[in-house]
Amino acid sequence: MKLFVATLGAVLLCSHAAVVKQSGRSFPKDFLFGTATASYQIEGAYNEDGKGENIWDRLTHQDPSPIRDHSNGDIAADSYHKVERDVEMMRELGLDAYRFSLSWSRILPTGFSDQINPAGVDYYNRLINEMLKYNIEPLVTLYHWDLPQPLQDLGGFANPLIGQWFEDYARVVYHHFGDRVKRFITFNEPREICFEGYGSTTKAPAINATGIAEYICAKNLVTAHANAYYLYNNEFKASQGGQVGITISINWFGAKTDSAEDEAAAELKRQAEWGLYAEPIFSSEGGFPKELVQRVGEKSAQQGFPRSRMPEFTDEEREYVRGASDFFGVNHYTGSDISATENLGQHPVPSMLDDINVGSSTPAEWAPSASVWLKLSPDSIYKTFTYLKNRFGDWEFYITENGWSTEGGLDDDGRTLYYRTALESVLDAMDAGVNIKGYMAWSLMDNFEWMEGYIERFGLYEVDFEDPDRKRTPRQSAFVYKKIIKDRTIDH
Ligand code: NOJ
Repeated sequence: MKLFVATLGAVLLCSHAAVVKQSGRSFPKDFLFGTATASYQIEGAYNEDGKGENIWDRLTHQDPSPIRDHSNGDIAADSYHKVERDVEMMRELGLDAYRFSLSWSRILPTGFSDQINPAGVDYYNRLINEMLKYNIEPLVTLYHWDLPQPLQDLGGFANPLIGQWFEDYARVVYHHFGDRVKRFITFNEPREICFEGYGSTTKAPAINATGIAEYICAKNLVTAHANAYYLYNNEFKASQGGQVGITISINWFGAKTDSAEDEAAAELKRQAEWGLYAEPIFSSEGGFPKELVQRVGEKSAQQGFPRSRMPEFTDEEREYVRGASDFFGVNHYTGSDISATENLGQHPVPSMLDDINVGSSTPAEWAPSASVWLKLSPDSIYKTFTYLKNRFGDWEFYITENGWSTEGGLDDDGRTLYYRTALESVLDAMDAGVNIKGYMAWSLMDNFEWMEGYIERFGLYEVDFEDPDRKRTPRQSAFVYKKIIKDRTIDH
C-alpha cells in the first residue's frame, strides 16, 4: 500500500512539474531568504549547563511515551554543541537570514526572571555572533512551544499572569541580544499553542479542556504579545531600532463551491483557525472575529452556560492589543476546500474547534507529503496573502515557515517541486501588491517533529540521528534552494 501511495505521489509530482510556470521573474535584492528552526526541535542538551525543565521535556519523558516513535528532544540534532557547523550550513546555502527560537528555560531555568542562566545566554550569543560574522541576519522567536514547566504548573497560558511572565522574559531577551538582533517574533503559532496544547492533546501541555481553555489561552497570548511589543517600544526601540512581530499559522481555507453556505463555512473556518489570533492584533476593529464570537455565544447558551465560553475584551483591552505589531509573520504550508455539507467531521487531524463543524477536503491530484495534513497546494500562498492584505491591510509580511516532509533520503524531488511552486506563488502575491519581505524555508535540517518524533523529515539537510555526531548532509533540494537564493530567480 505504501509503495502504491509513493508511486502515485511520484506520478502526480511529475505531472504537476510540467505545469509549473516558468516566469523568469526575480526577487528584490533586499528580500530575505532564509531557513527556520526551533529550540526544542534541534538543540538537545535538555538538562545541560543549568537549563530548566520545559513542557516538552515533561511530555516526552512520560511513560508510556505519547510520541509516535517514542523519541524525544534530549539530544535532537545536538545543535547546542554545533554552533559552527550550523552556521556553516547557512553559509553553504548563502542565506540572508536564519530564524531560530530561544529556549525560555535555558535562559531562565525556572521561567521567572530573577535567575538568569549565563551558559544559556552565552550559547545564543555565540550563535548570533557567528552568524553576524557572515552577514546572516538573526530572526529570533522568543517562544516556540517550550514553556518552562514551573510556569505550566501555575496554569501556563490559562493563567493571565502569563502576560507578566512573558514580558519579564522579553526584557531579559531584548537586554542581552537586542544590540544585534533587529527582528523579534514573540510567539510561534498561537493556534498550535492554544488549540492543540490546551484545547486538545496534540501538543504539550496536552490539557484537553476543549471549548474553554483554547479561548482563554488566545486572549492571554495576544495580550502577552502586546506587552512584549509595548515593552520594546517604550524601553528599547530608541536605542536598538528593531522590530517586534508575531507568527501565526495560516493555511488557506477556500470555499469548495461558490454557494453562500460554503463561503460562510470557509469564513467560519478561517476565523476559528487563525482569525482568533490575527483579528485582535491586525484588524482595524480589534477583538475576536465576529461570526465566531456569535457562534460560540449561541452554543454556550444552548449548552446551559451562564455566559459565553469565549472571554471578552474590554474596550481598553481591545485597543491595547489592536495594531500592536511591526510586522505580520505567517507560517504557511498548504490549503484545503471547505464545505458546509460534505465530509463533515472527517478531518485528518483534529484541527476543528468543536464549536464549528465544517467539512474539509483536498483535490485528488494534490501530491501528498509524509505528513497527513500537508499536500502540495499550487497557489495557496497567493490566495492566502491577497486575502490577508484585503482583510487586514498593508502590513509588512514575512513568510516565517514553509516546507515539505518526506520519510528521508537525499533525493527529494518532491521538496524541490514544493519550493519552486511556493516561490512562484510568492511572486504572484508580490506582483498583486502584497508586501512580502522574506521567506524562511522549514527547515534548515531534520529535527524532532513533535508528536511524529523523527519520522517526518523537513530538512534541507539530512541529519543522521543514529550517528553520535549527528552528521548533516545536504539534500538535492538544498542545492536548488541555494541557486534560487543566489540568482534571485526560480530555475525550473
Ligand atoms: C510549524 C511549526 O512551527 C514547526 O515547529 C513544525 O515543525 C512545522 N510546522 C512542521 O510541522
